[in-house]
Amino acid sequence: MIERTFVAIKPDGVKRGLIGKILERLENKGYKIIGMKMLKPSVELAQKHYAEHIGKPFFQRLINYLTSAPIIAMVFEGENAISGIRHIMGSTKPDEAEPGTIRCDFAIRKEANVIHGSDSPESAKREIEIWFNDDELYDWQNIIEIMKCDNE
Ligand code: RTP
Ligand code: MG
Repeated sequence: MIERTFVAIKPDGVKRGLIGKILERLENKGYKIIGMKMLKPSVELAQKHYAEHIGKPFFQRLINYLTSAPIIAMVFEGENAISGIRHIMGSTKPDEAEPGTIRCDFAIRKEANVIHGSDSPESAKREIEIWFNDDELYDWQNIIEIMKCDNE
């Protein structure tokens, strides 16, 4: 099924100059970017995004971290994009993430694990609505889709 998912390159990913390397992996796989912007999240936005973690011992640290510098907020679209991108990201704890995943290859600490991706269709819908207005998302055809149309 074609899905949309919210992905963010977190502050440590931006600060360490990893934007290109992370995007390369997701683009190479074949997922399509349909929305993208750089922003420094407000505390309110960060709290809304991570609402499921309110009350947990790491919550305040998580909010401080996400609001500490600009992030790259994106919506990706593609076949099973939600679970597929989570797979490419790897486990929350980089030291448990499989080699070849973004978190294994680029991160050491779970508090700074360079990338976020929605974890379910419900989260994806909720998060896309939090971070993007409808007019910031673009319906465009990549070359494979254009060629498919040409052959029909
Ligand atoms: P994310 O939402 O950022 O994609 O990460 P995730 O699904 O893999 O993990 P989640 O359970 O949603 O946790 C969100 C972020 O909170 C930090 N965390 N710290 N100190 C801790 O025990 C702890 N647990 C989670 C991580 O940075 C995690 O990415
Ligand atoms: Mg999560």
